[in-house]
Amino acid sequence: MNVLMVCLGNICRSPMAEGILKAKALKHNIIINVDSAGFEPFHVGDPPDIRAAQTALKHGIDISTQKARLFKYSDFKKFDKIFVMDNNNYSDVLNVAKTEDDKNKVDFILNLITPSKNIPVPDPYYGGLNGFENVFNLIDAACDKLIENLENK
Ligand code: 4NP
Repeated sequence: MNVLMVCLGNICRSPMAEGILKAKALKHNIIINVDSAGFEPFHVGDPPDIRAAQTALKHGIDISTQKARLFKYSDFKKFDKIFVMDNNNYSDVLNVAKTEDDKNKVDFILNLITPSKNIPVPDPYYGGLNGFENVFNLIDAACDKLIENLENK
């Protein structure tokens, strides 16, 4: 299984999601290839935001070696599932899609726990550390559900 996590900057939410899912896959002995990407060019090549890295580390996950990159069309061919964090990411990704198959790969990550509700993972960039903790917990719960689904397949 190949999973891509997508947000705007690829320095806060999607790097945390990448780290969380990788850690869970390892723990559960499930082979999942996980990557993340964004749409805002400003942070390309940067490591995750220090607050995202600190929050992940507090939970035992080191995301400090990740590097931000842009989403590209070939990601639709490389990944089976593309999880977005919010409405903006959703339309950004769908704007690049060409086929129904591409579009069908895209879903809101929190739909794993609240199906079809399209609830966003709030952008923590302009807030404090508690926003990052909230993001971590939301994504952690969603990734638990994904692992559970894969184990029951
Ligand atoms: P992210 O947060 O999408 O969760 O990585 C953001 C990071 C940077 C910016 C926006 C959101 N920015 O505009 O620079």
